[in-house]
Formats: sequence, structure tokens, C-alpha cells
Amino acid sequence: MTDAASRVDELRELIRHHNWRYYVLDDPEITDAEYDMLMRELIALEEAHPELADPDSPTQRVGGAVSAGFEPVVHAIPMLSLDNMFDEGSLRAFDARIKRATGLAKVEYVAEPKIDGLAISLTYENGRLAVGATRGDGERGEDVTHNLRTIRAVPLVLPKGAPDSVTVRGEVYMRKSEFERLNQERASRGEPMFANPRNAAAGSLRQLDPKVTASRKLDAFFYYLPEAERYGIETHWDALDFIRSLGFRVNPEIILCDGLGETLEFIHRLADLRPMLPYEIDGVVVKVNRLDLQRKLGFTSHSPRWASAYKYPAQQVQTRVRDIIVQVGRTGVLTPTAVFEPVDVGGVTVSRASLHNEDYVRAKDVRVGDAVIIQRAGDVIPEVVRVLVEERTGDEKEFEMPRVCPACGSEVLREAGEAATRCISLSCPAKIREGMIHFASKGAMDIEGLGPSTIDRLLDAKLVADVADIYGLRLDQLAGLDRMGEKSAANLVASIEQSKSNPLYRVIFALGIRHVGENVAKLLASHFHSMDALIAAERDDLLAIPTIGPAIADSVVSFFSSEMNLETVKKLAAAGVRMSDEPEEAKPAAVEFDGKSFVFTGTLANLTRQKAEEAVENLGGRVSSSVSRKTDYVVAGENAGSKLARARELGVAVLSEQDFAEMLERAGCRLGDER
Ligand code: IVH
Repeated sequence: MTDAASRVDELRELIRHHNWRYYVLDDPEITDAEYDMLMRELIALEEAHPELADPDSPTQRVGGAVSAGFEPVVHAIPMLSLDNMFDEGSLRAFDARIKRATGLAKVEYVAEPKIDGLAISLTYENGRLAVGATRGDGERGEDVTHNLRTIRAVPLVLPKGAPDSVTVRGEVYMRKSEFERLNQERASRGEPMFANPRNAAAGSLRQLDPKVTASRKLDAFFYYLPEAERYGIETHWDALDFIRSLGFRVNPEIILCDGLGETLEFIHRLADLRPMLPYEIDGVVVKVNRLDLQRKLGFTSHSPRWASAYKYPAQQVQTRVRDIIVQVGRTGVLTPTAVFEPVDVGGVTVSRASLHNEDYVRAKDVRVGDAVIIQRAGDVIPEVVRVLVEERTGDEKEFEMPRVCPACGSEVLREAGEAATRCISLSCPAKIREGMIHFASKGAMDIEGLGPSTIDRLLDAKLVADVADIYGLRLDQLAGLDRMGEKSAANLVASIEQSKSNPLYRVIFALGIRHVGENVAKLLASHFHSMDALIAAERDDLLAIPTIGPAIADSVVSFFSSEMNLETVKKLAAAGVRMSDEPEEAKPAAVEFDGKSFVFTGTLANLTRQKAEEAVENLGGRVSSSVSRKTDYVVAGENAGSKLARARELGVAVLSEQDFAEMLERAGCRLGDER
């Protein structure tokens, strides 16, 4: 082995170890700076020696290629759900049932926090992560391996001595702090917020672009080893120990309880601890510890008889409505928002809750001065549960939707059949401000240094009136702003300049057209290739694009029928903002590859997995990570495992590395040269 190869091996081992100390044990042995140094050294070596590439290297967690969709995965052992218990009586009944069925006077339970995330199943073959899937309907889930690989608590390789083939199950979740960071970012971009960390985690895991998943910082706990008895394990407690020894993160609060009494104590203790935990839990899962008893108790059609979930009641608190204010969003929607006397609800201070729209306020009959019960149930976003009508004094004030926009005084309109009331003015300052924040945000024009507070200062100083004015800003004007140094001003000018060359879809997205999110913007850009063509598009042209429906089509047409919007686009173009994309040259699809789906398994001797996958995609094929009936070819290298077996089972064509290389050659592609 060369020096580089052995150093790369050593670094990967070291980084894996420190990852495990940090993400699994929460007990790092080195500083972040030391860790970064190891990582940088490995990245540099891997760049200098592409032949040493390994998809399971710790450098590969940033997220690979975008996929077209998720392949179904059949769970060899179904992923069941749990029965719920909402009070102590049901828990006593559960315990009584188990005692009766087992003939024991006292049963040992493992009590675990019920993490509010989504269940996943990881299968390892020959010590490497082979397939990671969501629960789906319990029988069939979706293959989200690429996305799961970006989660640091998911081991990519298992330690030596791990079983050849093993499946471990657990929960992917989002920490409360990450959830708040993400929602703040979304709010500042005018994107809809996630209702709770569970939805945020699920949404993040089901991204087609693993880079998006990687940016969301998901986490995971593992709590189940199906078929534990195969490994000579006798209790669930030992199974947790076993998966911990394989490098999986196991929740530290989990305890072994001798009988119902200790279980109840744990449930009460955890309820007190709940607000302090960095993640959301919605209850306690109680599991019979002995695996022989579990086997004896068995399953109903949808859940095990040996486990059940005790659910905590939603966290509700009483407070008073101080005011109902109306906020104007980017699309001009007026949102009534209740302002409360601040109260602590499960560890979070709550001082406002959206009342959504006029009808909602009427239905709940919320008035200024009312005593109300508010909650953050599984839903972290606070909401008004009900008004304590019996506490009214008669001084409460009913809410009225303003007839003019609170930001600009223009007329507001509520269209028939719509719940939303909108400000119709194109020059509404609130709309302009929100629109500008969105325009500059990440994912849109991504102008670093142009956040809400800078935008407010620019608007106050009357340096900008619309988004196109951003491109006319001079260094001296920026440097003259409050709290803006020479250096930040220069950086801002540079990032404004840089944003001019953003791809067309970003510009389309940045315009803030209603219903046109990032994905729709990409569709429009790849269909029309230029802003002019998009502006000229008629409703029917838009409707002809798959997945574009009437709401989007109407919104696009109406956006570009406004003189003011057209003027803004013209100004942006004149400032040098890129307004077209070269149509992508149609790649020559090779007949043998075109539209065919490939799965790679095992180690290839003469090419890297990445190169092989790129070649397939360049030739018009698709690469997927799991074998299904829809797979056309399985390319099997050294030590191919269960995927090969599955291919044989389903009668899918299997290619050797040599066959594959010949096929590439027939398509005029020689990979040997690239190594
Ligand atoms: S055990 C057969 N343990 O709750 C074993 N589930 O309502 C089934 N969950 O789908 C799961 N924390 O998503 C188990 N410590 C825990 C859990 C847990 C959260 C979730 C999981 C499952 C759902 C069932």
C-alpha cells in the first residue's frame, strides 16, 4: 500500500472514531478545530488521489447526486406501529394483560422516550450501509439511503466483527434548536414554515437533493433490533447494548424497570424533564424486556402485543390576549396574529400565535382581552385552543379585519371563495420589504450580507424602492449606512455583483411570484430558457408543462401582466442580471443505457462507484440504490451481497464488471482513461 493509501485509511478510521465520540456518545475527545484539520487533510488526499475514493468515506456525507424519485423498499420484517395509551389506567391494563399471558407476577419493562420523528430501517451488508428506508405503510417504505447518509448519527460502516447482515431501526428527528433555525430561515424567505420538528424531519428526509437534507442537520436514535435472537441476545436491554456497541446512537434516558411501579415513576420523571430535552418527545414507549416473552406475546395485525406507547397530554397553558395585530406578507396577505401575555409552554416562551384569517378568528371567537387556553401539542407552533368565554367581563373587543392595508393604507380585497384578505397595492411597503428579503435570500439571489436589517436601513434611507435598485447601490452609499463598515460594504457590493450571474431559475424564484417556489422555478427555466420567453408564455403554454396546474399558470400570467413587474424585470436585465440559460445540449443517449435503471453492488475493481454512476447517467440511464422489479441491470462487483441475491430472485439481469465495461465501450465511453 502506498503512503497516501495508508494515511487515507488511517484518517478515515480516526474521523469515524471522533464522529462516534461526538455524534453518538456526545463526548468528544478533540476540539472542533482539530477535527476540521483531520477532515481537511483527508479531503486534500482524496482530491490528489481519486483512485482512493470510497463512497463510505466520512468526506462523502455532504450529499451526492439529485435523484428522480424514491424507489420502493419492501420491509422483510414489517415495521409496525404501537398502540397508544392515554392514561395510567390503560397502562395498568396493559401490564395486567401481560402478566396474565405470561403467568408472571411482575414483568421487566424497558421504558424509552417516544421520540417525535419518523421511523427508519437501516440494513448493513458486509459492514456497510446498504439500504436505508422510511416506514411507509409498514410493509413498503421508500429508499432514502442517499439522504440518510448525510446524517452523522447514521454509521456508514460498522466496526469489525459486526454481523455480515444486520438491520437496525430507529427514529430520525430534528432537534428543537435546528427546527427553530430552519423555520426562521424559511420565514425570512417567505416560505411556509414547518408545523413541528416531525414534519420538518420528514420533509427534510424526503428531499430529492441530498444536499438539502445535509443542510438540515437531522439526528437519529436507534431503538430496535429485529431478529435480535439470531445474534444470541435474550433481552431488549441487551439488544440496545449490542446496537450501541455497533456504533449506533441509543437514547441515554432509556431505563430498565422492574415492574409497573418503576415504569410509572419513569413516566412522571420524564414528563418533568421533557421541556429541558433538546428534542421533542410525545410519550414513553414501554417494551417487555425478555425476548422469549415478546415472542410468546406476538403481534396483532398492526402492532406488537409486547409494547405500547404512553402518550403525554398536549401542553396547554392559560394566558390573555393583549392585542390582535395584522401582518402583511410578501404576497400581500393580511394575517391576524394574537399577541399574548408571554407564558412558558413546555419550556418555550410563547407570546403570539397566528390566527390565520378572518374566518378563523370568527370561528374561534377570539377577542382582545380574552382569557385563552393555548397549546403546543405535537405541534410546536402555538395555537389558540379555546376562549374561556365564562371569564369575559364585557370589555373584550371583537376583531375586525381592517378595510385598508395596515402598512400602506391602500384598499384590501377578499375574493369570493378565498379565506385570505390581500393588499392590492403594488407599492405597499410591507410587500416590498418582504419581497426584497425574499429576493436576496439563500436559494433566491443569495446576496450575502443583505438580510432583513440591512434592507430596512436601505428602505429607510430611501436608497432602494424596488429589488432592481439593489444593483444600483454604490460603495459610498452602503458604507454610509448605520452599523456598516467599509469592509462589509465592499463585501456586499461584491456579492451583489456576483448574484448577477445566478442561473435563470434563481432569478425567476427570486421574483416572488405566488405559487412559484424553487422547484417550479426550475421547471419554468428549463422549459423556457429565457425570461422573455417566460413573459411571453400564455396560460395554455404553461398548462402544457407537466405538473403545472391552473393556480400556478394564472399566477405567472397575472404577475407578468403587471406593468410595474415588467418594469422591474427590465431594470434587472439592464443592470446586467442574467436573464437566460443556454438550453442544455441534449446528451447523446446510448440505446443500451437510455431510460434503463442500474443498481451497483459490491466493489468494482477498475473504476470507482462514482465514475460508474456518472457514466450511466451521462448515457441516459438512472442509478438506484435498491433492486426492484423495475431494475434493468444489477452490476455486481466483488463481495456482492443481498442485492445480488435479490436480483436473482426477481430475475433481473446481472452484469459482471467486465460486461459493464464492454457495454460502456459499445456506447463509446471508456472509463479506464479517466482514472
Ligand atoms: S418501537 C415494533 N421505540 O413510534 C417496535 N418506536 O407509534 C416498533 N417511536 O413507528 C417501534 N420512539 O416511529 C419504538 N423508543 C421508541 C420509539 C418509537 C419513537 C415511534 C416510531 C414508531 C411509532 C409507533
